[in-house]
Amino acid sequence: MSDPRSEAAKRRTFAIISHPDAGKTTLTEKFLLYGGALGKEAGAVKAKSGGRAATSDWMDLEQQRGISITSAALQFEYRDCIVNLLDTPGHRDFSEDTYRVLAAADAAVMVLDAAKGIEPQTLKLFEVCREREIPFLTFINKWDRPGLGPLELLDQIEETLIVEPTPVTWPVGIPGDFRGVIHQQTGEYTRFERTARGSTMAPEEIVSAEQAAIDDGEWWDTAQEEAELLREVGRVVDQKSFLACESTPVFFGSALTNFGIRFLLDGVVDLVPSPAPRVLADGGRRGIDEPFSGLVFKVQAGMDKAHRDRIAFIRVCSGVFERGMMVTAGESGRQFSSKYAQTLFGQDRDTVDTAYPGDILGFVNANDLRIGEAVYSDSPCEFPALPAFAPEFFMRARVLDTSKFKQFRKGIAQLDEEGAVQVLRDEDLGDQAPILAAVGQLQFEVATHRLENEFGAAIELTNTPYTIARKTDAESMPALRAMQGVDVLTRANGIHLALFESRYWMDRVLADHPDLTLERMVAEGGLG
Ligand code: G4P
Repeated sequence: MSDPRSEAAKRRTFAIISHPDAGKTTLTEKFLLYGGALGKEAGAVKAKSGGRAATSDWMDLEQQRGISITSAALQFEYRDCIVNLLDTPGHRDFSEDTYRVLAAADAAVMVLDAAKGIEPQTLKLFEVCREREIPFLTFINKWDRPGLGPLELLDQIEETLIVEPTPVTWPVGIPGDFRGVIHQQTGEYTRFERTARGSTMAPEEIVSAEQAAIDDGEWWDTAQEEAELLREVGRVVDQKSFLACESTPVFFGSALTNFGIRFLLDGVVDLVPSPAPRVLADGGRRGIDEPFSGLVFKVQAGMDKAHRDRIAFIRVCSGVFERGMMVTAGESGRQFSSKYAQTLFGQDRDTVDTAYPGDILGFVNANDLRIGEAVYSDSPCEFPALPAFAPEFFMRARVLDTSKFKQFRKGIAQLDEEGAVQVLRDEDLGDQAPILAAVGQLQFEVATHRLENEFGAAIELTNTPYTIARKTDAESMPALRAMQGVDVLTRANGIHLALFESRYWMDRVLADHPDLTLERMVAEGGLG
């Protein structure tokens, strides 16, 4: 067993965020290729179309829809570091899930499609990043294809995200004829070569300025001038402003052809902060070398038909985890054995014997664990609550066959605990016809699919008039419930939500009754 401090110093724990199709799955696969986790050939993490059975695509529905809903945690070694990569759902409808995953990450890599730049859908994920104060690197992908100019992309990042882009690499060639990159710190020009289907690492050659001028002519001149100009105006990586989320180091590349992947991985190792003492609910910090503690950031069931179980994902925050140790769950003080702790590599599971700060554990069938909860050995701790996410869609759910009510009840309780959808009950009506509240419509599809297939309780969903919610409390409840166009419902965790038919109506209630509690939640107002 090693010392947690030196092991933590080796860890880089980050998540990739992107809009669908920007290349997150491909990039994940290439990270694993460069990290040596796939042997010499890419192809283990695959995607959806063309029969690709993704390591990170577990659910049937994901495969049918060709989207990534669940999150995988992958670990590999690169240089002298251990990299923990957290996959996040690409679709904005699952940004609440992304938010929870980011609670377990120390940084993010934002992937942009060079032809599209920042798409409206990306903004929400980015806002989530900003809300959590997660520093992020930007990877401009698909440079092998025609797209926007590099300076134009930098402008977009700056204007839309209000973050200063600081290029680490600068592309030589035009989108569509990508030759290589200039490394801004060393000034070196690295030229890449394609390999068949990008299945092996792209051969690299450092080219002298004289040779580049001969081979790449005008493209070299332009790239060099731009790169120099950017250095002159101070557009260079600055660790302090990166950590403060005021700047983002930018990399150009192509995940498909492996161009620029090594530089990006080097950037992850050099720039992403290693795990630091974790802030506690009481404002103190849990030191890296204190006894084992971890944060439950995700609970997921139905990941794999072969193992119909439920996994709680835990990020180790302090100390050393050893399999078999007795672990206590923060809220309830319940103890459980960690005999079945696992690491997860897509569908493959391995038992884990030891884990250090920054690592991700999967606790199988630790059914009582709740998202946001702390687990620990020896000395208790509590992390700040994960803030509630503002739902934007509200549908009433009823079980179609009333003889399946028990299954329905069990199913919605579980979906609520996992955070797959928020289940809001009227205290007088109980579970008869709860309202399912979601950040995006696709969450309803997942809930319906899972209730039917996993729990045997087919449901019908009907529209409700509600469009916006605020957190309220027991004192404000009677007054709000007496009003027209407002309802107050309660989640299983005791949180009361006031639902309004329109923002206009909510603003009026707020103006007329300043005494009532109506708290904003994260990402209210449909950012993006
Ligand atoms: P996602 O996880 O963010 O949704 O994106 P994914 O990696 O699945 O990539 C989406 C599409 O973009 C895929 O094409 C993929 O091959 C392509 N792609 C990813 N990176 C690059 C790149 O650097 N250059 C180019 N030209 N294309 C890239 P597809 O047609 O959906 O799948 P496939 O038929 O290629 O497998």
